Amino acid sequence: MDVLRLSDLVAAGRIAGRRVFIRADLNVPQDDAGRITEDTRIRASVPCIRMALAAGAAVMVTSHLGRPTEGEFRPEDSLAPVAARLSELLGCPVPLVRDWVGGVEVRPGEVVLLENCRLNKGEKKNGEELARKMAALCDVFVHDAFGTAHRAEASTYGIAQYAPLACAGPLLAAEIDAITKALAAPRRPLVAIVAGSKVSTKLTILQSLAGKVDGLVVGGGIANTFLLAAGLPIGRSLAEPALVAEARAVMDAMKARGAEVPIPVDVVVAPRFAADAPATVKDSADVGADDMILDIGPRTARMLADRLAAAGTIVWNGPVGVFEFDAFAQGTETVARAIAASSAFSIAGGGDTLAAIAKYGIEKDIGYISTGGGAFLEVLEGKTLPAFEILARRAAQG
Ligand code: 3PG
Repeated sequence: MDVLRLSDLVAAGRIAGRRVFIRADLNVPQDDAGRITEDTRIRASVPCIRMALAAGAAVMVTSHLGRPTEGEFRPEDSLAPVAARLSELLGCPVPLVRDWVGGVEVRPGEVVLLENCRLNKGEKKNGEELARKMAALCDVFVHDAFGTAHRAEASTYGIAQYAPLACAGPLLAAEIDAITKALAAPRRPLVAIVAGSKVSTKLTILQSLAGKVDGLVVGGGIANTFLLAAGLPIGRSLAEPALVAEARAVMDAMKARGAEVPIPVDVVVAPRFAADAPATVKDSADVGADDMILDIGPRTARMLADRLAAAGTIVWNGPVGVFEFDAFAQGTETVARAIAASSAFSIAGGGDTLAAIAKYGIEKDIGYISTGGGAFLEVLEGKTLPAFEILARRAAQG
């Protein structure tokens, strides 16, 4: 990766006394009371902040949290819980600055957290005026938000265009190095698990993976669309019937290569989406008109576990069921434990995937855990992410 790295600037003595603006991805899941339920991304962002502080920089950090409406502050969109956790991890105060685009007070050796950058008007659309204002806050822009590297927004892209210096933080650099290295020459069979509810956002990735992987396991809402494509009933389950033809094309493309999308042979259904809803195992062909599919069934889980045991490389993105509800967690737990037990090199990414890994305590058994969700998938797809494109362009400009 031909980009400037923060470590290069530190080594060259170009950080001491400088104002350093770090774009991190601190977009972590929270419960209804706003408590952070999984803090991997915050922990993964700490080395960059420490590196800048240790080098004597005045450090500003920002991140998005969720997808708020620009210009409309709501308490639940605040990074306040993240500031508290970051302060614990860094062992120093991390004040949260609410309105910061016009100017930020911070001294060398100090760190401040700038409130949810997606509250700023112009952020999503990479507005030039906003990007220039943010760039004017700093001497050095550091992109360390791998999870957001596939977005071209004002705090990830525009600021990198206009800041005096723009470089990659250690997390961004490590992520791209690890994923590309793992996929350059994967040990086969290569099995990808692409699951979760974001059906439409992942179908193009499925299409691309269909040309590369030996097994493509689908789960969650995505699997329901594939069940429809296979001519099976799904009742009231989450699915996108408009994408059935595309799902069928993915299955056909895999088949033509001698590869396969394993379709669940049994599922766990419930009459409603709730933790206390009664769970019933049914053959996929027997799903009723009022059923909602909330997990794969035990026979399907065993079948997938066997495939994962035989894999050479496993790429995992997304839980195969509603694992947050214990009654619908068995499929995800079986898959998670099969990945952990497999001798395959495994790489996993995505917020829900990290939560599942944490829930089953298998962190040490996964080859590489990425902090990216969509970004992780787009790298797998072979795309050049905007973050790397702009940082490479800035590096080439010298
Ligand atoms: C993620 O959770 O995948 C990243 O933080 C990016 O979030 P976004 O999809 O809202 O841009």
